[in-house]
Amino acid sequence: MNHFQRKKGVLHAEAIPLERLAERYGTPLYVYSTATLTRHWKVLNRSLAGIRHVVCYAVKANANLALLARFAKLGSGFDIVSAGELYRVLKAGGDPRKVVFSGVGKRDDEIAFALESGVRVLNVESAGELARISIVARRMGVRAPIALRVNPDVDPKTHPYISTGLRENKFGVSVEEARRLYPLAAKDDALHVVGVASHIGSQITSVKPFLDAIDRVLALARELEKQGIPLAHLDVGGGLGIRYKDEEPPHPDEYGAAIRKALAPWKGEVLLEPGRVLVGNAGVLVTRVLHVKRSGRKTFVVVDAAMNDLVRPAFYEAHHDIEPVGRPREGEREIVADVVGPICESSDFLARKRRMPEPVPGDLLAVRSAGAYGFAMSSNYNARPRAAEVLVEGDQAFLARRRETYADLVRGEEPAPAPERV
Ligand code: LLP
Repeated sequence: MNHFQRKKGVLHAEAIPLERLAERYGTPLYVYSTATLTRHWKVLNRSLAGIRHVVCYAVKANANLALLARFAKLGSGFDIVSAGELYRVLKAGGDPRKVVFSGVGKRDDEIAFALESGVRVLNVESAGELARISIVARRMGVRAPIALRVNPDVDPKTHPYISTGLRENKFGVSVEEARRLYPLAAKDDALHVVGVASHIGSQITSVKPFLDAIDRVLALARELEKQGIPLAHLDVGGGLGIRYKDEEPPHPDEYGAAIRKALAPWKGEVLLEPGRVLVGNAGVLVTRVLHVKRSGRKTFVVVDAAMNDLVRPAFYEAHHDIEPVGRPREGEREIVADVVGPICESSDFLARKRRMPEPVPGDLLAVRSAGAYGFAMSSNYNARPRAAEVLVEGDQAFLARRRETYADLVRGEEPAPAPERV
């Protein structure tokens, strides 16, 4: 359920027609529904009622400050993968004690920033990283709270680019290596072993892989406990999928219930790192049609949003529904077209061979399910200023990020920098 619905034929974000937002803020424009993201967070949170848990929103999916601030207000924790994300969380008023720091390669300065800020745990992804964290913590005179991210070697059956829990992936350590590293970490007085983590991939559309992963991680946690290394929490990662087209991912209630059941024997706390499921369908990208171009047998709908704004179709051949924002026209034709942006790359498309009502230049289109990994993965390629982002709440709109200007594009650059002796 999301709050982008048609009213009298016109697509709205909650109570505001998208047309009005496009007029006010220009296009391309990211529009987020606060009711949708709040609801998604609450539903997921409630699905784990009865067990001690923290929902740690995966900031990478959408790191807009206003959106993070909404989650912080709900009491959310955060899953971060860089010091930059930590900076954003703190700026948004997030509680560092509910922050988990994941990621395969943390620099010393990032580790130090996390320890200074008092994050809850650093998820460690290799023996080398464990050693680095110990060195940095010792230097700072603190104990670093750590969990090992275990790679449970289960197949999440998702796109290979977003699968992370297989042995061949670069993420985490194997169960065998974790068995070896935990006792070392437990003996290190610069480290404080607090948990175990796993994350197997993204856009997962059945509960089975999650349960397989939990089984393996839980077995490891039990073993460690027997050896006198008790763990305070178990982090089940993120990865729950959403519907882009015809997928049928488990409802968060079903997911939550399955996790609760699988973790019934677990007495510690449970952490989750959901990203996409919270924000994916809480956002659309609004774009204006520039031209309808025919070339041989093909029709191209050229729009003002491009792969720099939304890279998922180019990157993963991802499907995003695209629909007209306005009312259907009388007698309009259906066409099959590629919806493309102005960037000089053949991979610059938002949709291919898409059946859609024939638009005319000036029409607005809404690209759905763009709230996760949309703006977050956008860039300035082709010197295109990045889009504005707007949060909608009922009949109110909040400009959460202004559109970039040309001056923003060259910030930090000099046409004729002075030479420096280095
Ligand atoms: N935790 C860790 C350690 C992760 O690596 C990720 C996502 C998450 C949590 C959140 O996963 P989610 O709940 O959003 O599935 N750019 C790709 C998705 C990459 C996901 C990377 N890791 C996309 O657009 O599909």
